Amino acid sequence: MANPLVRVAGTGSCLPERRLTNAELAQMVDTTEDWILMRTGIRERRIAAAGEFTSDLAVRAGQVALEAAGVEPNDLDLILVATTTPDLVFPATATMVQRKLGAHYRQAPAFDIQAVCAGFVYAVTIAEKFILSGSCSRVLVIGAETFSRIVDWKDRSTCILFGDGAGAAVLTAAQGEEGSSGILSTHIYADGSYRDLLRVSGGISTGLQPGEDPRVSGVGFVQMRGNEVYKQAVKSMSAAIDDTLIMNGLERHHIDWLVPHQANIRIIESIAKRLEVGMEQVVVTVDRHGNTSAASVPLALDEAVRDGRIKRGDKVLLVAFGGGFTWGSVLIRW
Ligand code: ACO
Repeated sequence: MANPLVRVAGTGSCLPERRLTNAELAQMVDTTEDWILMRTGIRERRIAAAGEFTSDLAVRAGQVALEAAGVEPNDLDLILVATTTPDLVFPATATMVQRKLGAHYRQAPAFDIQAVCAGFVYAVTIAEKFILSGSCSRVLVIGAETFSRIVDWKDRSTCILFGDGAGAAVLTAAQGEEGSSGILSTHIYADGSYRDLLRVSGGISTGLQPGEDPRVSGVGFVQMRGNEVYKQAVKSMSAAIDDTLIMNGLERHHIDWLVPHQANIRIIESIAKRLEVGMEQVVVTVDRHGNTSAASVPLALDEAVRDGRIKRGDKVLLVAFGGGFTWGSVLIRW
């Protein structure tokens, strides 16, 4: 019997032109190329040009995903953008993406999701629910960031980690038998008690009083207790993977591809070890992209789809972790 399911009809991505290498960073802060590479696995990251915004990267990734899916912008029922670095506090970046795509004539809803590095996994989860409820048939989900705009370029412990980019997927409603391609399950979690380990203070909650100069208030940059975040990232993503396997009645060896959040190669290796998959089954982009927050998982997914590593029928496990903390996973039969 055919059941409703949600398919990934196409993926896309976009990276800004400019590469920032470890050697360049070593000229900017007290660090070395080797320290960055050994502790993080990052060799370079991309940086958005002046005047290039999150919505610009999101639109380009979205266009590539729409083309791959064979879906026209005006056929979309919903546009979701996961981002921590919106163009403006409001309106939502998703509404700017809608206009720039030329998808505004049907007036499909468009809104942003804020779950930091877990944003894309959150957005896919929300899109899946909209489709399974029968409200939508074609949803564009984008993870897009210009994280370089919110790092303190004088703080060597954080500025070396992040980069800019966008990744996208078009999700569509389908009917399928047991064993058909589609999303098998989604899992999202949050624990707000970790607020102070990873945050950007600023915006509405700065407590800035009339007449105070925001430029000297020291707000608005990423602050992270990296070591503690690291431990929680491994623990939480491993727990999400366990839940996913249990819910689907699967064993570890059933997973063909792990597409993890790209924060640090050591975190990725720890998760792969726990899942008992070899690194040849793990999609890694952190060496070239750094941590692109909500864009990291869809950027990695698109790369492995386009180069042919991920094939029809493969079980693909997306897993992410970010500020909040927020975390989650999505299991897809490709
Ligand atoms: N160059 C040289 N030395 C440095 C640098 C640098 N760029 N940065 C820090 N150090 C120093 C520190 O000052 C410290 O020196 P000390 O021992 O004299 O005090 C030493 O290196 C070790 O610092 P640690 O913070 O313990 O280094 P660690 O091995 O933990 O690596 C890192 C730091 C890379 C940040 C790591 O902890 C990490 O990747 N954490 C997880 C980040 C993450 O997962 N984020 C996910 C979510 S991101 C989001 O949601 C936005």
